[in-house]
Amino acid sequence: MKKTVRKAIIAGNWKMNKTRPEAKALLEEIKPLVANAGEVEVVACVPFTNLETAIAATEGTNIKIGAENVHFEKSGAYTGEISADMLTELGVEYVVIGHSERRQYFGETDETVNKRTKAALAAGLKPIVCVGELLWERECNITEEVISRQIKLDLYDVSAEDVKKTVIAYEPVWAIGTGKTATADQAEEVCALIRSTLAKLYDEATAQAVTIQYGGSMNAANCAELLSKENVDGGLIGGASLKANDFNTIVHAAVNG
Ligand code: PGA
Repeated sequence: MKKTVRKAIIAGNWKMNKTRPEAKALLEEIKPLVANAGEVEVVACVPFTNLETAIAATEGTNIKIGAENVHFEKSGAYTGEISADMLTELGVEYVVIGHSERRQYFGETDETVNKRTKAALAAGLKPIVCVGELLWERECNITEEVISRQIKLDLYDVSAEDVKKTVIAYEPVWAIGTGKTATADQAEEVCALIRSTLAKLYDEATAQAVTIQYGGSMNAANCAELLSKENVDGGLIGGASLKANDFNTIVHAAVNG
């Protein structure tokens, strides 16, 4: 039933990788592979410096381009930051917000994630809002509290209409870049919890319309099982998105999933 009510989205998160020529080369490799992805939305979230190159390289294809962060103010004295309008003007469609690496290394909080999400939506970008528990929090058995708190704070004051344009990425922090993947059942459990939290905050129909991704060491070998789960509608892919064949395998697992 999931594909009939919401979009499957496979998004690469390239992180701080690839120069412009390298970005172009990778996209040229990916393009023909994913051309027959049908209903599955294929997204590449790339460093700011690669956005223009990536948009030009994917023009007329089924690949959408996303950024990896956005500032919440429209303009002003924010040295080193990029606004939502700067992204939409380039033709960017998606933006990753609140990735755990930003929370961990750059002081991102639920409050700034919320501000960035609202700024992105106001500018017409589709935010990919990342949530996830630390290993310590999972061991203390508070995953449910952590995730529902993040969802409530990150989406504070976001309308039902806007939340339908928002993608939620469940990324257990202990699984990112570690090679340790959540089991498909663990991923499903938390993605279902996210959906039930959305149903409480909005309503059941709105919750059913939101795409929820799993991220954290998703790869060519484990993607099919993860994506077969009812509440896992897609993936946010780090390491494996830098390898055209692996990324393509994940995209096609979503086509079949
Ligand atoms: P990974 O990264 O696939 O390399 O674990 C996922 C992410 O950070 O989005």
